[in-house]
Amino acid sequence: MAKMTERMQELFNNVPIVVLSTATIDGIPNVVPVGAKKIIDNETILISNQFFNKTLANMQANPHVAVTYWEGHEGYQLKGTVTIETSGQRYEDTVKWIDELSTKSGNPKKCKGAIILQIQEIYGLAPGPGAGKQLL
Ligand SMILES: Cc1cc2nc3c(=O)[nH]c(=O)nc-3n(C[C@H](O)[C@H](O)[C@H](O)COP(=O)(O)O)c2cc1C
Repeated sequence: MAKMTERMQELFNNVPIVVLSTATIDGIPNVVPVGAKKIIDNETILISNQFFNKTLANMQANPHVAVTYWEGHEGYQLKGTVTIETSGQRYEDTVKWIDELSTKSGNPKKCKGAIILQIQEIYGLAPGPGAGKQLL
């Protein structure tokens, strides 16, 4: 497991969108933008599934994913494995959160599952000599 630093968590919370990469079991990649994301703790993040299609099929077949986010030239890549929760407290809380967002924005959406990413590796993305280096 790898633990996000305070700064990595701050940036994750500040960016409106992160990028979620998945792959089929044969290695065909798929990349989507995601706005409904939260930090559970320093080694776990949650993403809400409202619209995942190829992304969901990929995660069901192959739990290895990467999440990338950045602002300016500072960015991080989180790699790990996901579990998909469609019942239980975390799922119920996520349903409530998305219902509230949906009401506020007037843009109807329903949570179909809480994607829980256990972070195993963290890489830096800042361009320069350290680009792509494993940090944790
Ligand atoms: C700005 C933006 C934010 C998005 N946020 C989410 C999200 O939080 N959850 C979600 O399920 N889909 C979200 N989507 C939709 C997915 O990016 C994507 O359209 C969906 O997963 C279908 O693509 P797929 O077949 O590759 O999975 C968002 C799309 C955009 C453009």
